[in-house]
Amino acid sequence: MCGIIGFVGNPGSDQLRRILIGGLERMEYRGYDSAGMAWLEEDGCIRVVKTQGKVADLDRALNGIPVKGCVGIAHTRWATHGPPSDINAHPHTDQPNRMAQIALVHNGIIDNASVLRERLRQEGREFVSETDTEVLAVLIGKFLEHGDDLVTAIQRTHALVKGAYAIVVLLKRGTGQLVAACHGSPLVVGVGEGCTFVASDRLAFVGTAKKTLFLEDDEMVILTADSYDHRTLANQQVERELVELRISLDAIAKGGQKHFMLKEILEQPTVITNTLTGRVIDGPEPRVHLGGLRTKIEIGGRSMTIGDFLQNHLERVVITACGTSWHAGLIGERMLEALLGLPVKVVYASEFITGFTPINNRTLVITISQSGETKDTIEAARKAKRQGAIVWNISNVVGSTLSRVADSGVYLHVGPEIGVASTKAFTAQIVALALFTLKLVELRNPAWVTDTRRQEIANALLALPAQMERVVADAKHARDIAFQFACRSRWLCRCFKYLAQSRTPRSVSWLMRLIGASNALYLGRGYNFHAALEGALKLKEISYVHADGYAAGEMKHGSIALIDKRMPVVVIVPEKGEDEETYARVISNIEEVAARKGRVILIASEGDSNPEELRCGGKVERILWIPKTLAMLTPVLASIHLQLLAYHIAEMRGCPIDQPRNLAKSVTVE
Ligand code: AGP
Ligand code: GLU
Repeated sequence: MCGIIGFVGNPGSDQLRRILIGGLERMEYRGYDSAGMAWLEEDGCIRVVKTQGKVADLDRALNGIPVKGCVGIAHTRWATHGPPSDINAHPHTDQPNRMAQIALVHNGIIDNASVLRERLRQEGREFVSETDTEVLAVLIGKFLEHGDDLVTAIQRTHALVKGAYAIVVLLKRGTGQLVAACHGSPLVVGVGEGCTFVASDRLAFVGTAKKTLFLEDDEMVILTADSYDHRTLANQQVERELVELRISLDAIAKGGQKHFMLKEILEQPTVITNTLTGRVIDGPEPRVHLGGLRTKIEIGGRSMTIGDFLQNHLERVVITACGTSWHAGLIGERMLEALLGLPVKVVYASEFITGFTPINNRTLVITISQSGETKDTIEAARKAKRQGAIVWNISNVVGSTLSRVADSGVYLHVGPEIGVASTKAFTAQIVALALFTLKLVELRNPAWVTDTRRQEIANALLALPAQMERVVADAKHARDIAFQFACRSRWLCRCFKYLAQSRTPRSVSWLMRLIGASNALYLGRGYNFHAALEGALKLKEISYVHADGYAAGEMKHGSIALIDKRMPVVVIVPEKGEDEETYARVISNIEEVAARKGRVILIASEGDSNPEELRCGGKVERILWIPKTLAMLTPVLASIHLQLLAYHIAEMRGCPIDQPRNLAKSVTVE
């Protein structure tokens, strides 16, 4: 999951360091346990500086070292083989120090590294690190010694290794060029004026490169300052057009907020408009326009219209994804089953790859991934395609691997999501799934759902941005509640400092009575059960407070044993008017928690819900309100409160919110 970058150009003095460090900073979401850089010194020898820690630590380690030159590579690591340490940090070389012929940065995993390492050891080659990456460096070095040029050495190495990699290789005394190759891990080329880049993510060169192109598997590129030679690893020339890089520097800045996560939570009302724009076409019979869905489908060499496929061919839907995207998938499952009447199964992508989910050419597989680069989900999509399924993808990153693997798909258009905890992508995924559902209903069986109902859903979708705005405006309440979670003696000083800084209205005596939490439960029924799962994940990943999401009705079958006066229980209550029975059941569940002295915090819908009834005779500590919407869209609004709650708790606990320990944004290993 590392971030790699290579640059070739003619930067002014000391610019190389700035360019490479800047690129790493923007890819730090991919991994941040160690970082390193390599460049050519004036005598043509390779200089490597690397350190355990973050990109800022690398930058400090470079102080006082002149980084001059026009070619360099750099890396920010998320360790798979060998713990984070100075030695295991990349770049790796084929030989130590000034003897090195090459330096290399790698993203991915070499599955047969230990076999190859043993073989190379027997040939007398030495290794200094515990990484799989060093095997690549030593192999390439060996082929260079045998007289191969760098391109051939990389191609021969490719033939020997199993696994996934994206590499950028710097050659000693190289004449202003870099060679990069990939197999199973992403690489993208950037072309600017008088300079070229290659990196794991386009964000690395936004602002400098103007055009870009993604490498496909088993392709390589030879970069010079003003050209790139694009070929396959089998040496066939590739002609692929560059596309304009349309990401602004603003989109990848924190926008005045302390963390990317907060910026991304607060901008949801605005960016969700982009997910909806041009897609809901109003009229007596509402229609959904999803430009990314191909109108023709190929099955076993036979071409049919998408309508024909959906009406006469489709038997079931399988949704596969990981983490937060999987939670969105669960919400999608419910929407599709309710409105389309088709069996839908949601499978973790990592389980799908090794499992036995029945798939054939009558199955529609929907993959969901913010990054479009999650290895498990990519492999799941590939497996589904091998088994004949039609694969549609929902992702945020235009041109990402998944969007290229899938038959067609839909983009979220919410702009780069940089905070490791997914927020705006989640709410946009729910919206995209609702659009998908409406589209499938429209194409497969419009009579199944009345025009009035479809209109109601379309209207509810269009009303979301304004409703989200209202929830965001209410954000200070989540901060108050977060204080109660975090308020243990250990955190007390920090909490007061935080509250003083953020000028949150509060009743100190009331808060002082509360004890802190090291566990939390999140409950909901129906669509809100999945929102509860997501709320718990958000809390866990950024604040390290253990949290579980449960179906509210399931609590009494086990987790109720955990409830005591120290247990905060966040319950997402459905709006009474749409489903009175479910509402009544959730009220009973709240009573059950309160009877065991659990500390209940509610997220409830305005509308027909009765505040007095909800307060359960004063046993509920706090209610966070959301505007009334359809049950299927409640998770969109409730999630904003859940995200803010997790954010403020993590902030009060002093956690590194945008870079939680052990996590990386883009999980490009299986
Ligand atoms: C979300 O907060 C997590 N960091 C993680 O679960 C994430 O959703 C998962 O890794 C899937 O990522 P993707 O959507 O980019 O495929
Ligand atoms: N396997 C390499 C290492 O552990 C790269 C890891 C990655 O790309 O996630 O250093």
